[in-house]
Amino acid sequence: MARLWDKGSALDVLTQRYCAGRDWEFDQELLPYDIRASIAHARGLGAVGVLRAKEVDRLVKELGRLEARWSAGRFRTRPEHEDGHTAIELALTKKLGDLGKKIHTGRSRNDQVIAALRLYAKDRLRVVSDAALDLAHAFVQLARRYEKLPMPGYTHTRRAMLSSAGLWAAAHAEALADDMGWLAVGYALADASPLGSAAGYGVPLPLPRPQISADAGFGRVQENVLAVQNARGHVEAGILAGLSMLMLTVNRLSTDIVWWSAEEFGFLRLPEEFTTGSSIMPQKKNPDVFELARGGYAVVSGCEQRVRNLLLGLPSGYNRDLQLTKEAFLQGMSHAHATLAVLSHVVPHLEFDEKRCRAACSADLFATDEALRRVSQGVPFRDAYRQVAEQAGAWKVPDLDTALRLRGHVGGPGNLGLGRLAGRLARIRREWAGR
Ligand code: ARG
Repeated sequence: MARLWDKGSALDVLTQRYCAGRDWEFDQELLPYDIRASIAHARGLGAVGVLRAKEVDRLVKELGRLEARWSAGRFRTRPEHEDGHTAIELALTKKLGDLGKKIHTGRSRNDQVIAALRLYAKDRLRVVSDAALDLAHAFVQLARRYEKLPMPGYTHTRRAMLSSAGLWAAAHAEALADDMGWLAVGYALADASPLGSAAGYGVPLPLPRPQISADAGFGRVQENVLAVQNARGHVEAGILAGLSMLMLTVNRLSTDIVWWSAEEFGFLRLPEEFTTGSSIMPQKKNPDVFELARGGYAVVSGCEQRVRNLLLGLPSGYNRDLQLTKEAFLQGMSHAHATLAVLSHVVPHLEFDEKRCRAACSADLFATDEALRRVSQGVPFRDAYRQVAEQAGAWKVPDLDTALRLRGHVGGPGNLGLGRLAGRLARIRREWAGR
């Protein structure tokens, strides 16, 4: 196995293999970010005269070529590389000879890996937020389509009060919009450059950290070089925490959809093309996509826990344990994205069964309405409440559309403010476009 730190002595094969683990595989996805950071680092070395302008040019050109090869699927980390950093340096050295061996001047794989992970995070968070906003938008559209469709509202999974399909759909859109704030926090954490922190203690070279940072595409420099190293995993855990929150929202809305599309409720129809069958029961049309989306929370939150647990008890500075955070980070990111993407694709096809929704609006949903009617005649609420409790069945189902309209205060089923909600989502999307 090729080792950047090979000093001539032999290394036990089993130890070597165990330490490298599958890191070289995970680094495949990080290569373009590592390359981008390497370009910025090379230019920084040029700016302070460690490399000559010609050398910088050749390095940058070759790194650009590596990136193009990566895009074409032709630059691959291999098991004989300890990691992606090794793959890059070896490729440079193979092409440029001694010049390739100069790229690592003034850096460590410790700041290199953090730079790659943070650039990856920034990129992926943009994609994830797009998918989350698409999903929120799908719920707003659903809310528009069924804004005035009455249906029961539940507490404790028991019929409670009159609700509407629009209220339900808009509630999930709003929750997703709220969760976008967590992603913004995660993005801000990732937007700080670790470059120049090297092994965690800086280097005796006048590295132009702000220039390198901007060049690599970071919004700011994370200054304290030890804080940089101590943030490895911490930033990832923060981002995964945000994704977990989002997935918790997805978990709830998926549960609603699984139940409401079941025969017993029958409020929602899931077109057949989005259902899956059973190998034994010919009649089955299962909502697997929403069950898997519901379970997605466990996957992402499990990734978050793994990262947090790995940090527990670590002393300051780089520790190799940190390598084990990488898999969980990549997995959590891609699983959250896949889930949001498939849901934003399926949710627009949900259909409410208007008949079933209306038919389920039984008189008991209006017990509170009845108590309030008595209040309007001067009966104190607690007395009205008791009267109604004793006289179940003494009132009928009112006109549902009128009853919905009466719930006209801000955010009530009769006043969803869907225009405001759509406007808020558009604002959040613009914020992300500006990141
Ligand atoms: N694969 C390593 C990781 O992810 C790269 C950093 C290695 N640094 C070291 N000092 N051994 O942590």
